[in-house]
This record gives sequence, structure tokens and C-alpha cells, in this order.
Amino acid sequence: MINTSPSASIPLKGNFLGIETSCDETSIAVISGGKLTANLVSSQDFHADFGGVIPELSSRAHLQIIIPLLNDALKKSGLALKEFDAVCATAGPGLIGALLVGLTFAKGLSYSLKKLFIPVNHIEGHIYSGFLMEEKPEFPYLVLVVSGGHTLLLLVNSFEKIIKLGSTVDDAAGEAFDKAAKMLGLKYPGGPEIQKHAQNGNPERIKFPVADLKGEYDFSFSGLKTSLLRYLQKYFGSTKDSVHKNLNQHELADIAASFEHAVIKALMQKTEKAVKNYDVKSISLVGGVAANRKLRNAFQELSVKHNKKLVIPALEYCSDNGAMIAFRGAKLFELGKRFSLDYSPYPGLLPDHFS
Ligand code: KG4
Ligand code: ZN
Repeated sequence: MINTSPSASIPLKGNFLGIETSCDETSIAVISGGKLTANLVSSQDFHADFGGVIPELSSRAHLQIIIPLLNDALKKSGLALKEFDAVCATAGPGLIGALLVGLTFAKGLSYSLKKLFIPVNHIEGHIYSGFLMEEKPEFPYLVLVVSGGHTLLLLVNSFEKIIKLGSTVDDAAGEAFDKAAKMLGLKYPGGPEIQKHAQNGNPERIKFPVADLKGEYDFSFSGLKTSLLRYLQKYFGSTKDSVHKNLNQHELADIAASFEHAVIKALMQKTEKAVKNYDVKSISLVGGVAANRKLRNAFQELSVKHNKKLVIPALEYCSDNGAMIAFRGAKLFELGKRFSLDYSPYPGLLPDHFS
């Protein structure tokens, strides 16, 4: 279990509980007295044995850990349940069974404690996760959301207005890393594995294609994935076993580095185009893939080149966490948004979510 060290100041009044169970991390966080006082994350590492997240096992694991995790978070923050102003939980997008565990738990708590219940959109949690840092984004800002399920380029005008500039038309960036890792015989989640092997590789060795789509700010990663498959079939055989047997560490490093390079190039091309065309104050990189070191460096260079403030959350706020859910929920509370206990979880992004 990961626990976040004392955090930056978060200018919010009140006490908020944040519950995240959208996929394979159970996380409970507390924001209290303008600080994040707990952010406990329990990762379901056992999915690695299956090469991906098994939804039913995920729901069961959330169920098992959620109450002990809550008790630990309360102990850590020194608050009693009755002291909270609202209970915030991820409502979607995510695995429906996993979402149901956290959302129903939050509803039960809020009903029994007579406290407000605030459903939070997971992607909005990521979008505003930069506010958990000491140096916060300034509106309007451009944010690239890169996770296992989503790749979105957004213009964030305020805590109430987000405009979608582009998104992936097929696989998400994280999904591309996960699928590539699987083809290379590496374990799940694939992003950190590809990053690790890419460290010693030559990113220029293989020229994987970078899609240029009609949609000005859209992304596509399925062609890249297919071209990796073709490359492996051509040089290392057509079965997983033959790839595994014939691929040495040196070649693996070059393939991983070249693949990582192509994903980052695709992400940066569209992001830079948006930085040029929109007059933003800050740029931000969020979501699980934002943990990628070379992508973080590319954003650093972009921010210097275009003289923009850069906010990339610390690693513990890039992967799924309750802190971002508590923050977004607390903001919705502050904005006067109120929700009924009838609110249902949703597996995908709502069609009208971003204008
Ligand atoms: O946001 P997240 O924790 O969960 C979702 O909401 O999807 O993102 C998980 C994704 C996975 O696809 C994982 O492979 C990727 O983030 N990821 C990375 C790195 N660390 C995690 N991708 C590239 N480089 C990394 N260092
Ligand atoms: Zn996420």
C-alpha cells in the first residue's frame, strides 16, 4: 500500500473523503483543513498474472479492502466520519462492477452519516490533479490526459468549463503500451515495462509510423500497434513463443525505445499544435502514462520553448488515486453542485461530457 507524504496546500474549506475504485486501484483520500491528510492506495498487482485486469476479480478485491482502507485513512487523518462535509466517489468511466463497489459504499456512508454524496468523473479527477501540487495550473490551460483507457487533449477554462480539442480514434496511449508489452512478452501494466527496457535502447533504430489524422488534434495508436506486430512477425516469428525465444535483450531495448519514441512523438505533435493555436497560461500532463519519464521531459522542453507554466503531478497523483477524486468532489461541493443518491455509475465517458 502506498501512502502519500504531506502535501501542498489546497485552498479548500471543509473535510472531504475521496473514494476511487474505477479499475485496479482501491484508493481512499482525505482533504482536510486545506491539506491532503491521507491518500492510501492499494494496487491489485495480481492482475499481472493474467496479462490484464480481470473485472470480476477487481470488484471482489475492492470489496475486501475498502473498509480496512477507510479505517486506515481515518486514523492517518485524525478525523472521525461525522466530521466530513461530503463523501466523494468515482462514478465513471471505469469497470462497472468496480465502480459499483466504491460508489455504493460512498452512498451508504453519506446516507447513514447524513452527509452530502458527490459523484466524481474519473477523467475530471485526472484533469484537475495538477491542483494537488504546490505550483498549480493557471486557467486557461491545456491538458493532455493519457491513461489506460483515454487519450484526450483538452482546453480547461475553469472548474466548470472544459473544451475537448481531440481524442484517440482507437486505442488509448496507455493501452498501446500495454498491448506492445504483451507482444514483447513483458508483464502488465506495460507502460512501466516498456519504459524500463527502453532506457538502454536506441529510439531511432526502428521507424514506427506516427499517424497523421484529419482531426487536427486527434490521435491514433492502432496502426502503430499493428506495425509492431508485423515487425515482430517478420524478424522473430509468428508466435509468442518464437518472439520470446528469438528476441535478445539488446533488440528488446531497441524495439521498446523505438515504440516509446513513436507514442511520445504522436502525443507531442498534437500537443504542440494546440499550444501554438490556443493562448493558454499553463500546460499540464496527467493520467497513468504521465509517469513516463521521456514524456515528462518532452513536456518540460515544450513548456520552455513556448514559455508556458508546466504542471505535471507527482507520480502518486498520475496513477489512479483518491486524492484527485477528493479534490474534484470538494470543488463541485464548493461550486454548489448537489447530487441525489439515485446517481448511477457509468462505464464510458458521457457523450455530452466535454463540449
Ligand atoms: O490512469 P491510470 O493509472 O489508469 C486508468 O485510468 O487507465 O493509467 C494506467 C496506464 C496503463 O496503461 C499503464 O501501462 C500506463 O498508465 N503507465 C505508463 C507508465 N506508467 C503507467 N505508460 C508509460 N510509461 C509509464 N512509466
Ligand atoms: Zn485513471
